[in-house]
Amino acid sequence: MKKILVVLAHPDIENNSVANKVIVDRLGAQKNLEIRDLARLYPDFRINVEREQQALLEADTVVFQFPFYWYSVPGILKHWLDEVFTYGFAYGSTGTKLQGKRLIVSTTIGGPESSYQSGEYNSYSVEELLKPLQQTANLAGMTFVPPVLSHSMVYIPDVYNVKEEVEERAQDHFDRLSTAIGQRTELSCRSGSL
Ligand SMILES: Cc1cc2nc3c(=O)[nH]c(=O)nc-3n(C[C@H](O)[C@H](O)[C@H](O)COP(=O)(O)O)c2cc1C
Repeated sequence: MKKILVVLAHPDIENNSVANKVIVDRLGAQKNLEIRDLARLYPDFRINVEREQQALLEADTVVFQFPFYWYSVPGILKHWLDEVFTYGFAYGSTGTKLQGKRLIVSTTIGGPESSYQSGEYNSYSVEELLKPLQQTANLAGMTFVPPVLSHSMVYIPDVYNVKEEVEERAQDHFDRLSTAIGQRTELSCRSGSL
């Protein structure tokens, strides 16, 4: 069976998340899938590099699951990349360990889709802003799968969005992520919706 590694970068998925909580709860029902919650594993940011590299070696699909923060990944995922994607592992003449694995970027974005274009207040598309991750995958010889993106995912009571609508969009995000992973049927069966 193919193994999926979900690298989860959310500062507090249990107590301070609406969108990622829905997605991660559904992912958690899946076999052959490991979720590594970086904030829970490494509250002090001291990454166990060997353990993380081992998890990558065992996977053939890697999912980066995170809320979009300041047009990029949360700090702990950037730190994880800095520590784990080392010379001789991810790049360099002998750094071939990630070659052929698929990378799926799966991110929830606060702003509406219409704001992510030239002339609007976020100026660039999310795909453009994700280029550093795409090039990281390229350098490591990974296949960069088209990212799974959802907009208008911020929930602040009485300010931004309706909680139930964000949860619905998160469910739809999970469905699209499942398709990207390529295990939609199995995931649906296990969650009882088939
Ligand atoms: C520190 C921080 C930075 C954020 N930066 C952005 C941003 O650059 N663009 C954007 O559209 N939303 C941004 N947001 C909104 C988050 O993307 C949104 O709240 C998140 O995806 C919701 O997921 P959650 O309910 O799982 O936390 C930011 C939120 C925080 C807390």
